[in-house]
Amino acid sequence: MSHELHFDRHRRLRQTASIRKMVRETSLHINDFIYPVFVTEGEQVKNEVASMPNVFQWSLDLLDGEIDEVVSLGIPAVIVFGVPAHKDAVGSSAYNDQGIVQKAIRQIKKNHPDLTVIADTCLCQFTDHGHCGIIEDGNVLNDPTLDLLAKTAISQAEAGADIIAPSNMMDGFVAAIRHGLDEAGYTDVPIMSYAVKYASAFYGPFRDAAHSSPAFGDRKTYQMDPANRLEALREARSDIKEGADFLIVKPALSYLDIIRDVKNETGYPIVAYNVSGEYSMMKAAALQGWIDEKSIVLEKLTSMKRAGADLILTYYAKDVARWLLES
Ligand code: PBG
Repeated sequence: MSHELHFDRHRRLRQTASIRKMVRETSLHINDFIYPVFVTEGEQVKNEVASMPNVFQWSLDLLDGEIDEVVSLGIPAVIVFGVPAHKDAVGSSAYNDQGIVQKAIRQIKKNHPDLTVIADTCLCQFTDHGHCGIIEDGNVLNDPTLDLLAKTAISQAEAGADIIAPSNMMDGFVAAIRHGLDEAGYTDVPIMSYAVKYASAFYGPFRDAAHSSPAFGDRKTYQMDPANRLEALREARSDIKEGADFLIVKPALSYLDIIRDVKNETGYPIVAYNVSGEYSMMKAAALQGWIDEKSIVLEKLTSMKRAGADLILTYYAKDVARWLLES
């Protein structure tokens, strides 16, 4: 019977675990991961974020243990988010030499010079209105905000940040930051731009973690409409022209098509940001016992790499590191 039928035998390459490994096209490696760290003022603070189990805000006196763990697991990079005590209309704690992010960067680099420290460069955690720029008559002003972003990036580089990651979505932010860094002598500090950042409901838990919800309105005049694909390519092209070295696509899971398009179109190093809401959804289902957390997380993260991501920014990075060591 089978001698007369002609068809392909795909199952030949699926017969054993060993053969499956040999033909596997995508795999996760510890070097692919970036772990987010929330730092806050005060002492003896280790606050679990209510909507993100196992994610904490750390005060600096307790931070070393967390960073030592990241390093011992072999994770190559962290991204630092600040939760400052002082907020004002112009986000001045973002570009203060004694700001929480600047202090954290100095402390981390002192103890672990080889760990790559990425600074998130935005104003929303530092403004009392929670927007990512200066406000006038209820509008977020583009150009006056650029100077403050450049000042923030320079002070982060001065503190020792290895990479600047601007996430505010003002037009021209990469140009302004590149210019500012170069003038200040930081020509070798790369920019990992949040080039493609959607106005997404998946950031909800992060805003709990970072206390950065807008006090009025929303971010739709600067973050992108989730319905748009071609606009993502325009955003990516602008950032490359302005000097970006890496491109972030955010969120990741509902935007795998965008990751693939941006990778194909640009060939640049692409970072998938597996955002807070994506984490919380998986975590909640896992805590209910409804899903197999390890298998589902690894499958999802693999899909991001398969889509074209080179790096993945995820709250699951420490778990993944442990799982990769097990397998
Ligand atoms: C700051 C910033 C946000 C995130 C990273 N940087 C929040 C926002 O734009 O509201 C979200 C990260 C996450 O949800 O994990 N602009």
